[in-house]
Amino acid sequence: MLDTQPTKTKLSAKPVAVPGLTFEPSLWQSYKIARQNVLELIPERAYHEPIFCGGKGRGWVMVADPRGLEHVLKSRVDAYPKNAILKRLMKPRRGTNLIVSEGEEARLQRRTFAPVFAARALKNATPAMTDAARVMLDRLEAARNDSEPVDVFTHMQSATCDIICDLVLSGRDTLDRDALRKAVDGFVATQGRISIFDLLGVPNAIPRPFELTDRSRVRMDRMADDVIATRLRRGSSEPPDLLDLMLGGDPKTGDPLDPLMVRNNLLGFLFAGHETTALALTWALYLLAFDPAVQKLAQEEVQAALGDREMASFEDLENLQLVGRVIDEALRLYAPAGFLTRVALEDDEIEGQRIRAGMTVILPIHAVHRHRLIWNDPDAFDPDRFLPENKATRHRFAYLPFGAGSRICIGAALALQEAKMLMASFLARYTVNLLPGYTPKPQMWFTLRPAGGMMLRLSRHS
Ligand code: HEM
Repeated sequence: MLDTQPTKTKLSAKPVAVPGLTFEPSLWQSYKIARQNVLELIPERAYHEPIFCGGKGRGWVMVADPRGLEHVLKSRVDAYPKNAILKRLMKPRRGTNLIVSEGEEARLQRRTFAPVFAARALKNATPAMTDAARVMLDRLEAARNDSEPVDVFTHMQSATCDIICDLVLSGRDTLDRDALRKAVDGFVATQGRISIFDLLGVPNAIPRPFELTDRSRVRMDRMADDVIATRLRRGSSEPPDLLDLMLGGDPKTGDPLDPLMVRNNLLGFLFAGHETTALALTWALYLLAFDPAVQKLAQEEVQAALGDREMASFEDLENLQLVGRVIDEALRLYAPAGFLTRVALEDDEIEGQRIRAGMTVILPIHAVHRHRLIWNDPDAFDPDRFLPENKATRHRFAYLPFGAGSRICIGAALALQEAKMLMASFLARYTVNLLPGYTPKPQMWFTLRPAGGMMLRLSRHS
């Protein structure tokens, strides 16, 4: 079932893509490729086959079929918990957090944090987003000149980091944001990368070599402990921010959360809450630079919605439909979380494929989003795929930048709102262009980043 035909003539050129792997790599080759770019490990057949198995021993199964994805992520979610590699990448040094929890422990955390992500709270978070957009424009203006390109990724990281810090800490407790970003970069480059131990199935209890030397997690833990200690001295605020909710404990029973759980989730949110959204914006800016005609239409939409203003308000959001579709399309072509991984707890069958207990279940979101059986001209940039009439013809599990089911990203609505607001402010002031001959390199270690940054030329038009 293909999505509908594109509604307008498209550029014949395509934005940058990573070719699929055409040979069966040995374990050592897999390790070497994964250390360079996990995307290059996706077999070419994952882009046109619905489901297939590989590997030796207990092996793995790769599921790219929307009905199969629904089976794993929704219908039989308890039979397919997150797998060891994913848990190793996201596991705190001690204790647990939402991302690696299962069952009742995960439900407890989700209901505790839910109020911060409710529709009303997101509306109340708009001023923080407007402030971040204003600071982003100031920083861009200071960094920009007419001849040199700017690394827009670092600017998007700063802006989304400002927003998440505000949401988690409501601006009352200060955090060294540069130190946080450096610690995140250190983490992504070391513990956030696949280790040969992961591929050999070595239990997570055995520390990976870089865990013994890298200090980024220790630094992040200390940073979080300082912030929590200050908040406990000062007390909570009204309306509560995310840290207040964590310290307030389970809303159902009133029981306090384990202190390590508070620390780990504070860090988990600061990390998960800005890196991914910054990447969505960065790749969306690349796509706009790649397709100046769409950029012009998006700028006209922003101009019509905002008039002379550079900052979008909450009420403007519904008038920024094309901006939203460009972000949706960036999340399709360059999903920041390109893979999800699960483990089969018991024997099962997915879309006619036998699954044995213990198998690793790989959900290659990057390949699902470019799958030949799902999308028409999958590698082309076409925001119109997300027009309501085109969305209605697709299986709900064909597009999963935020995962799906009960473990769907808790921050999805927040991310889309802030991405739209930051993008509108950006387009209200700037046009982005690609330098002749420049092509960014999508590289996935932990998230899908542009290797070496996203160097775009900015010209001011207002
Ligand atoms: C464009 C931005 C974002 C993308 C693409 C994204 C992607 C994802 C994906 C794919 C998952 C599911 C992982 C799995 O099922 O294995 C996830 C979970 C999660 N995300 Fe996001 N995310 C984004 C923004 C955010 C933001 C803004 C926050 C917090 C403020 C956040 C916090 C979380 C948390 C805590 C989880 C774990 C939820 C659970 O396991 O129950 N994310 N995200």
